[in-house]
Amino acid sequence: MTCFREESNKPHFVLVPLLAAQGHLIPMVDIGCILAERGVRVSLIITPANADRIKPTIKRAKEANLAIEFVELSFPNVKFGLPPGCDSIDSITDRGLYRAFFEAIYSLDEPLEAFLGSLERPPDCMITDMCNGWTGPVARKFGIPRVIFHGPCCFYISTDYNLVHHKVYDSITDENEYVIVPEFPIKLQVTKNQTPGFLNSPLFEDMRKQCLEEELTADGVVINTFLELEQLFVENYEKVIGKKVWTIGPICLYNKDFEMKVGRGNKEAIDQSHRVLTWLNSRDAASVLYISFGSLAYTNPQQLMEIGNALEALNKPFIWAIKKIEMKPEVENWISAGFEERTKDRGLIIVGWAPQMVILSHQAVGGFITHCGWNSLLEAISVGVPMITWPRFADQFVNEKLIVDVLRIGVSLGVKVPNFANEDGVMVKSDDVREAVCALMDGGFEADERRERSNDFSDKAKKAVEEGGSSYMNFTDFIHYFTEHQARSK
Ligand SMILES: *[C@@H]1O[C@H](CO)[C@@H](O)[C@H](O)[C@H]1NC(C)=O
Repeated sequence: MTCFREESNKPHFVLVPLLAAQGHLIPMVDIGCILAERGVRVSLIITPANADRIKPTIKRAKEANLAIEFVELSFPNVKFGLPPGCDSIDSITDRGLYRAFFEAIYSLDEPLEAFLGSLERPPDCMITDMCNGWTGPVARKFGIPRVIFHGPCCFYISTDYNLVHHKVYDSITDENEYVIVPEFPIKLQVTKNQTPGFLNSPLFEDMRKQCLEEELTADGVVINTFLELEQLFVENYEKVIGKKVWTIGPICLYNKDFEMKVGRGNKEAIDQSHRVLTWLNSRDAASVLYISFGSLAYTNPQQLMEIGNALEALNKPFIWAIKKIEMKPEVENWISAGFEERTKDRGLIIVGWAPQMVILSHQAVGGFITHCGWNSLLEAISVGVPMITWPRFADQFVNEKLIVDVLRIGVSLGVKVPNFANEDGVMVKSDDVREAVCALMDGGFEADERRERSNDFSDKAKKAVEEGGSSYMNFTDFIHYFTEHQARSK
């Protein structure tokens, strides 16, 4: 009871991640841990299978006595016709079930209300993923100020916001026609195909509409980026949305020690990490190429073999992350019929989740072929690894433009159309992969300059999250804003 009274003096934030994808869940869990370290009591809403994925983090938080509580709401699999244990998009193989999956998420308002109703007083702030439009009415019902968490960078969010609010695509007939992004600080050209916006399928129209409305009624926005990386675009978003925008990233940099870095991902990654580290320790600085396309996009066997042929021809050490579902018999056969043997002295294939932050932050890694998911990009930026960009879907095409054209720390593979499920055979030829890797990693004036810029952003990223840095200060300001709000309203 004493303990409870102490806790109830603390400001209390409730965090509602989008319980659909690792890329949305992990940053929110990290934000929860940081808030708890900063003296906030945190309740993080989660479902059982998702809690299982982040078990190491939950265990560490308990051991460290952090005031963070993981509130498990039961996920209505059965009611919505979803297979058991299926709490995340990457565990759904039948895309026909996506709508049902989101309906299940959107039905979490009832159990969330039950949880909030059980509290002695309403939390001081709710941080909710942009795609969780359903939390708006819940927060209003309990009078809780609500802040949106946006997964991507401001460069993307502002692009999307300006395209939507100027209704640019209403008059477009060809989805591959280039348009200029209105009210944007630089001239940026995109196609509708490259920037469909989130939840943008006729199937999700109602949810999308609700999310856009709830963005406008939010009390502020929190973003995993840092001012020194994209100040122009942070300011642009702040201006167009007319709200406070707190930049608090790179969130991945707050996890300083090895176990936290590992624990951010799926628990199976822990077993991999020591093996990977041992392997990396024997390599020269900046010599290793790392290839991963995140946790969602699918790469077909032909395309995998095309990448493999490039890796073989390159004669460089590499770590290649391949998903379990991508390991079709033909791929396995191809690997064991010679590829593995011919690259055994310099290649490491990781099947399943790779301990990405452990890999990227090792000094042996000198290049990264990435799908341009914002978390991956920010991780690479944080540790100064230049990139080869191969966007697959969602925000990734716009993110690529920030990396390649604005920050100039990446080499593009030139993919122009979405390829989430990689249904169209080979998108990128082995020779193109090989050339891009040579351009990135084989030295020369441009490569050296690119690497220097990468290192420079890495230094700035680290400074941003240190005490007194811009992200650290924004975090402080963010907490105060809602704590003082609490004081005012009492
Ligand atoms: C975030 O930090 C920057 C730099 O210190 C500051 O200019 C800005 O006002 C802060 N943003 C908020 C919303 O407090």
